[in-house]
Amino acid sequence: MAAQSFVDGLIRRQGWMDGVAEKVQGAVGRAYEALGPRGRTVKNLLHGTSLLGHPLHPAVTDVPVGAYLVGLVADATGQPRAGDTALAVGVGAATLAALSGYTDFHETYGHERRVALVHGAAMTAAFGLQLTSLALRVAGGRRARRTAVGFSTAGFAVVAASAYLGGDLVYGIGTMVNRNAFLDAPEDFVDVGASGDFPEGALRRVQAGAAPVLLVRRSGRLHGVSAVCSHAGGPLDEGQLDGECVTCPWHGSRFRVTDGGVIDGPATFPLPPFVVREHDGRVEVRVAVPLH
Ligand code: FES
Repeated sequence: MAAQSFVDGLIRRQGWMDGVAEKVQGAVGRAYEALGPRGRTVKNLLHGTSLLGHPLHPAVTDVPVGAYLVGLVADATGQPRAGDTALAVGVGAATLAALSGYTDFHETYGHERRVALVHGAAMTAAFGLQLTSLALRVAGGRRARRTAVGFSTAGFAVVAASAYLGGDLVYGIGTMVNRNAFLDAPEDFVDVGASGDFPEGALRRVQAGAAPVLLVRRSGRLHGVSAVCSHAGGPLDEGQLDGECVTCPWHGSRFRVTDGGVIDGPATFPLPPFVVREHDGRVEVRVAVPLH
C-alpha cells in the first residue's frame, strides 16, 4: 500500500479529531476577533490575500525547513556557530509559518481539516523541539550542546514527516488551491439568457459552456465573473451582494463583481472576469482573458 493511502485511511477513521479541530478553529477565530478591525487586515496578510495574491504559507515554510537542514549539517560537521545561527533563523521563520498555517486552518473542513490538524500539531511539536534546542545552545556547556543537537535532529525528523502531510494537503486535497484553475470557459460569446432575466442587484448564475458564471446588474450594467469561489469552490450566487462586492456564503471571502478582484480572504486568487454584452434583448458572455 502506498504511504499516501495508508496515512489517508488512518486519518479518515479518526472521527474524534473533529471536536479537537473545532476547538482549535474556534481559538483562531477568537484571536482574530480580539484584534478588532485590524484582525481582518492581519488575516488577509497571513492568508496571502493582500501583498502576495497567492497563499503565503507554502512560500514561508521553505525557510525553516531549509534552515533546519543547514543546521543539521553544520552540527554534524563540527561547525557549532553555523548550526546555532541556522537554527535561530529556522525558529524565527517557523513562527511566521505557524501563524499563516493556523490562519489557513481556520477555514478547512471535513477530511482536509483532520489532515491539517495532524500537520499543524506535528509542526507545532517540532517547533517546540527546535526552540528547546535553541535554549540549550544559548545556555551553553558541552553536555547541553549534545542534548541540543539531539533535540534539533528529532525536530527535523518530525518536520520532514509533517511536510509530507503538507504536500498531501495541497496536491492531494487542494487546500488553498485556486478553484478556477481548471475552469473551461468559452473564448467566444455564448448566449446565456434574456436581458429581463437579470434585474438590478440580483445575483444570477448561468452556464456558459462548462463555466458557471455569476451575472450581476449594477447601475443598469451587467457584470460577469466566475460563480465559483476561488478559495474552496463556494457558490457565489448564494452569497450576499453589497454594492459591487459579493460575499461568499462559505467562509466570507469578498470579491468585486466588476473585475473579480479579491477584497478579503481566505481566498487569495481573483475570480476570472467575463465580458458581457447585450443586444436585441439577449445576453452573451465570454471569458475576458483566456485561462489556458
Ligand atoms: S469557499 Fe471559502 S470563502 Fe468561498
